[in-house]
Amino acid sequence: MLKTKVLFVCLGNICRSPMAEGTFRNAVEKAGLSDQFEIDSAGTSGWHIGEPPDGRTTQTAITRGIDLSAQRSRKVRQSDFEDYDYIIAMDRDNFGSLMGTSSKGSQDRIRMFLEFAPKLSETEVPDPYFGGQHGFDHVLDLVEEASDGLLAHIMQDRNKHG
Ligand code: 4NP
Repeated sequence: MLKTKVLFVCLGNICRSPMAEGTFRNAVEKAGLSDQFEIDSAGTSGWHIGEPPDGRTTQTAITRGIDLSAQRSRKVRQSDFEDYDYIIAMDRDNFGSLMGTSSKGSQDRIRMFLEFAPKLSETEVPDPYFGGQHGFDHVLDLVEEASDGLLAHIMQDRNKHG
C-alpha cells in the first residue's frame, strides 16, 4: 500500500514541529495505521541542524507519553515538496517561507496545522522558544487537537480519492 507522507514544519525544528510529529505519530499508532504513514518534521531555518529537540520540548512531551528522543533537527529541502503529500506549517511565517520556496505544482500540499482544529480560537501554533513552561504546555494542547483533526481529514481525503 502507498504510504501517506506527512511533514511538520516550524522555524527551528526543535520545539513545535517535533511535538507535532510525535503527537501525530501517537495518534496514527493509536488508530492502528502506523504502516500506512511516513511522518517527519523539519525547520525552515538550518539553525539547529543535527540537534535533538529542546530539553523543554522533550520533557513536556514525556508528561503526555510522547517520546521524542530519536528526533534530530533538519532543514526543509527542495525534494520535500515532491516527496510529502501534506506539508504542515505551524505559523504564518513558516507557511510563507514554504510557499516561497516550493514549486507552483506543490503549493496545495502546504497547509496551516490549526486549520484542522476549527474549534480552537487560535490559527497559529505560537513559538514557545523564548518563553516559559506554559508556552510548551500550550503548544501540546494545540497540536493534540490538530493532530486528531488532520488524521480525520487525511482518512476522508483517501476515501474521496481512492
Ligand atoms: P521552533 O522554535 O521553531 O518551534 O523549533 C524555535 C527554536 C529556535 C529558535 C526559534 C524558534 N531560535 O531562534 O533559535
